[in-house]
Amino acid sequence: MDVSLFSNQYLIRKMCTDDVAEVYKLCYKDSLYYQYCPPFVSEQSIMDDMNALPPNKEMCDKYYLGFYDGNKLIAVMDFIMAYPEESTGFIGFFMTDVSIQNTGIGSKIINDLCAYLSRIEMANVRLGWVKGNPQAEHFWHKNGFRETGVSYDAENYTVIVGQRSL
Ligand SMILES: CC(C)(COP(=O)(O)OP(=O)(O)OC[C@H]1O[C@@H](n2cnc3c(N)ncnc32)[C@H](O)[C@@H]1OP(=O)(O)O)[C@@H](O)C(=O)NCCC(=O)NCCS
Repeated sequence: MDVSLFSNQYLIRKMCTDDVAEVYKLCYKDSLYYQYCPPFVSEQSIMDDMNALPPNKEMCDKYYLGFYDGNKLIAVMDFIMAYPEESTGFIGFFMTDVSIQNTGIGSKIINDLCAYLSRIEMANVRLGWVKGNPQAEHFWHKNGFRETGVSYDAENYTVIVGQRSL
């Protein structure tokens, strides 16, 4: 899959071990997110996330991506292709840099991604947000994601599973 087609505005590249410090610099500023989704981020937790896979998926299905505006990293996304079923894309994590939040950039990235996935005949995008996180819930609702009725308990919080049809 050509990830550069995920956005018609931003440069996108797969992030690797060398990029962990840069991803950390984006994430650690977002204390609100980690209040709802502890523990607080570390370079090690980013490295672990870069290597984490859901059941029955392989590294070739995983895209841990950085979105750049020029040289500036403005967003990070962990995307899994064809999970939990063939026609569904799964967003495991999405965060924009605090300095550009609430300017519409997150919505633009998600809408461009959905448009691309629709063009390649995917049917749904699925994800989870932490129950009670007002920012995440508002953002996903605003971008057309609806509760599937599924939720599950992690150690310190409950995850609501949401989905958007393409
Ligand atoms: C959620 C997130 C990706 C949105 O990115 P963004 O670039 O700010 O997105 P947009 O500017 O398109 O939209 C932000 C919306 O959230 C709303 N919002 C921001 N803070 C909020 C809060 N505390 N409570 C409720 N809504 C809030 C904004 O008002 C805006 O909605 P509006 O256009 O209806 O006013 C970004 O805030 C973020 O990275 N948060 C931390 C990580 C996270 O929660 N990721 C999602 C769960 S995986």
